[in-house]
Amino acid sequence: MINSCFFYSLKGGITILALLDKLYERNDLSKEEIIHVLRNLDDGHKEALFHYAHRTRVKYYGHKVFMRGLIEFSNICRQDCLYCGIRVSNRKVDRYRLTPEEILDCCKEGYQLGYRTFVLQSGEDAWYSEEILIDIIRKIKEMFPNTAITLSIGERNDAVYQKLFEAGADRFLLRHETASKHLYEQLHPTMSFENRINCLLTLKRIGYQVGAGFMVGLPEQTAEDLAEDLLFLKKLQPDMIGIGPFIPHSETPLKDAEGGTVEDTLVMVAFARLLVPDCLLPATTAMGTLHPQGRELALKVGANVVMPNLSPKAVRTKYELYENKICTGDESTQCRHCIEMRIQSVGFQVDMGRGDSLRAIR
Ligand code: 5AD
Ligand code: FES
Repeated sequence: MINSCFFYSLKGGITILALLDKLYERNDLSKEEIIHVLRNLDDGHKEALFHYAHRTRVKYYGHKVFMRGLIEFSNICRQDCLYCGIRVSNRKVDRYRLTPEEILDCCKEGYQLGYRTFVLQSGEDAWYSEEILIDIIRKIKEMFPNTAITLSIGERNDAVYQKLFEAGADRFLLRHETASKHLYEQLHPTMSFENRINCLLTLKRIGYQVGAGFMVGLPEQTAEDLAEDLLFLKKLQPDMIGIGPFIPHSETPLKDAEGGTVEDTLVMVAFARLLVPDCLLPATTAMGTLHPQGRELALKVGANVVMPNLSPKAVRTKYELYENKICTGDESTQCRHCIEMRIQSVGFQVDMGRGDSLRAIR
């Protein structure tokens, strides 16, 4: 009887701690339960949530942290997302494109530093046609054996996704950004929610290891919206989940918004680890931008991937999705070593392997 007194509050509702136990044991909660936890989480509960997320990460992935070399190869974008610093309407951006040769040079440097995953990220830039992308993918695979290629290039049609996969791309990151249709439509005047979801489903069907994810602290985002984000991930079962705080950019319509906090983002990272326990979860650069130890904090609550920058130093400040982004002044080799130190400082070990998701290995 002691247990039931402990687990049930005076009002007859199930307590937060009991819900967290359920989340830890079953990797599942209903929407109402998630909302209830999010609205009533105190410091003690957070400690329990973070502890459970850490234990789950250790159970599935041990103390390894996978490294990905990030190459931001173009900041040209045809879309106009209200939050994003490189949106097409921002005329102040100094736009650049890396040539295929420059991209391969970044990979070469990365390969020598030990990276075995390259993440090719850009705005939605049609200059990189299907043919050009296929050529880049084939050359990377040819020149750098045993590497995985992750694309993060936004929305394309199904046939292009298929061809890029056949050329050798292994993974695709396409955050859903928010699972709330009305919020999505407010934030993406040039895009459609249905198309975003369809792209993710297509990528999965083709056979990519897929990454989805969302921002925390978007204007008007509620606990209910965040619960929907988490349950969307639970349903999609992606291989990777990118979660970061929204950071307002002064040259966007959301310049006066408040933005997300480190604390709220950590709660979402921990929830994601518990709801999709076998996923790969990056400690995002946006976390490191908001807090000097933001990435280390994320690693301690379930994150197990970091993505150090491999872009040429000359273009780094130009890939400004949000301001004050970290690592823009460092050489690739500095980033590599800085992150290794940070990973070790919180008791984890760097893994330079391809770092496929457990789901993909199975
Ligand atoms: N603050 C935080 N994250 C942002 N992103 C884009 N703009 C911002 C911003 N202002 C995120 C989006 C995108 C990823 C590459 O970066 O979620 O998918
Ligand atoms: Fe480029 Fe949103 S502004 S995809």
